[in-house]
Amino acid sequence: MLIHYSRTLVALFFVFSVSSTAASRSTSTTATTATPFPNGPFTTNASTILGADGSPFVYAGVNWPGAEVVMIPEGLQYQSIATIVSKIQSLGMNTIRLTYATEMIDQVYSNGLKDIPIKTAFVKALGVDEGMRVFQQVVARNPEFNEDTTRLQVYDAIAAECAKHQIYIHLDNHVSKASWCCDPFDGSTWWDDVFFCPAKWTRGLSFMAAFGMQWPNLISMSLYNELRPPFSSTKPDLMRTYNWDVWYEQIQAGSKAIHDLNPDVLIFLSGLNGDTDLEPVVDGSPLIPSNTTFQRADFAGYDNKLVLELHSYDILLPVTDCLRYQEEIMQAGYSTASDSREVANRFPMVMTEWGFKQDNTTWLENTYAICVQEFLGSRIGSGWMIWVLSGSYYSRKGNHDADESWGLLDHEWSAWRSPDYIEGGLKPLVKQTLGSTGYHTRLRIEEASKEVYMHFQGSSQQYKERLSPQ
Ligand SMILES: *[C@@H]1O[C@H](CO)[C@@H](O)[C@H](O)[C@H]1NC(C)=O
Ligand SMILES: *[C@@H]1O[C@H](CO)[C@@H](O)[C@H](O)[C@H]1NC(C)=O
Ligand SMILES: *[C@@H]1O[C@H](CO)[C@@H](O)[C@H](O)[C@H]1NC(C)=O
Repeated sequence: MLIHYSRTLVALFFVFSVSSTAASRSTSTTATTATPFPNGPFTTNASTILGADGSPFVYAGVNWPGAEVVMIPEGLQYQSIATIVSKIQSLGMNTIRLTYATEMIDQVYSNGLKDIPIKTAFVKALGVDEGMRVFQQVVARNPEFNEDTTRLQVYDAIAAECAKHQIYIHLDNHVSKASWCCDPFDGSTWWDDVFFCPAKWTRGLSFMAAFGMQWPNLISMSLYNELRPPFSSTKPDLMRTYNWDVWYEQIQAGSKAIHDLNPDVLIFLSGLNGDTDLEPVVDGSPLIPSNTTFQRADFAGYDNKLVLELHSYDILLPVTDCLRYQEEIMQAGYSTASDSREVANRFPMVMTEWGFKQDNTTWLENTYAICVQEFLGSRIGSGWMIWVLSGSYYSRKGNHDADESWGLLDHEWSAWRSPDYIEGGLKPLVKQTLGSTGYHTRLRIEEASKEVYMHFQGSSQQYKERLSPQ
């Protein structure tokens, strides 16, 4: 009932705000490259993502956060959208993972289906003085914006600028209540947690799916970022619902909410424990506590739109060697995309978050950093998005103008924080991911996978040598 209600409202909203979706969809923006852009809609076949012309697609992208309290993509008080997008393009990347909070859509609904001006959003989140100051900086840097510009128009402007540069948008439903993500105590962890209302969640997905129809470069959408145990829920029984059975029921509802309003986009399914586990989806084991298993037939008509996503950090389980790292990540679900593994379900797999401190040494010396870069370079899976673009946040966990030591960009979003890493690590990884040079690493990892990974000893040292500037 709620779903139908929300669809009607979404439809109404777009009667007034979208001129011609069909026209923008069918127009290819340029014909200068070998593969036409946007080359959608995309589909999947086993573990491969395919463009409309049948050519395989792999992501190489970066996270651009927009789900903290202001609910506006970060950085615009320091640089113009055009400048930021040109920096992303200079990395050779083809995608941004643009995050948003469900709360933004809730506010659109409670405001008579009108979004809130960015000026109001800044003042609400940062207070009058700071909010006005940051708003004025944003307008100074981005003169196409003014007092009437809404948050969704900022999302539109970013999508349009990216389209100009043949960069895709992956829209990520990052949190329920706008905030820094993610811990198991924040109330946005799991369906029915304090701020995570299932009906508002599907309403938000439907809304953004329809909203994104006007972007020719919207390639994919996530269902929810980093599901995790609802530790601080005030409902005593909620912890018992933290299981695969509930997950399965909800992700079917979420996928349908997206697909019904936007049949073109790929839909990303994320796993449990902060999106570090998709094992039963891949190996076909029971979705406990039920004895049902993951069935493509439960997504009849659009199972070729489903993509799996995992996150990988050095936080929960410290990484001590690359062999173990690979095995763990294979078991977590990457085996779905590995030729050397027998699995029940083959899907494309994308690592939508990974990253580390952007200093001059971590990328070369930290074991996790070495292992994750090597793994991603192997091209097992359909690419990745690094965390994170932002050199600073309007507000992070209540701290205004907070610095981001993991940001690719510096505090003012003007230069790379670690030019060494960008030149020596990230750009080569993008090339390896999008080109064909990762092939040998992949063979090596597949081979190692077959033969208990014995070949792989000492590979970290080799990788370090390979990464050093020629
Ligand atoms: C998927 O790819 C395989 C191998 O290229 C091909 O034989 C098969 O027909 C494809 N399936 C679909 C549904 O396109
Ligand atoms: C498991 O499946 C059987 C039928 O195959 C059914 O009778 C039983 O109720 C199921 N158990 C659960 C927990 O779903
Ligand atoms: C990295 O090294 C360069 C010199 O090569 C230095 O200018 C820069 O400040 C260093 N960056 C960090 C984050 O330590």
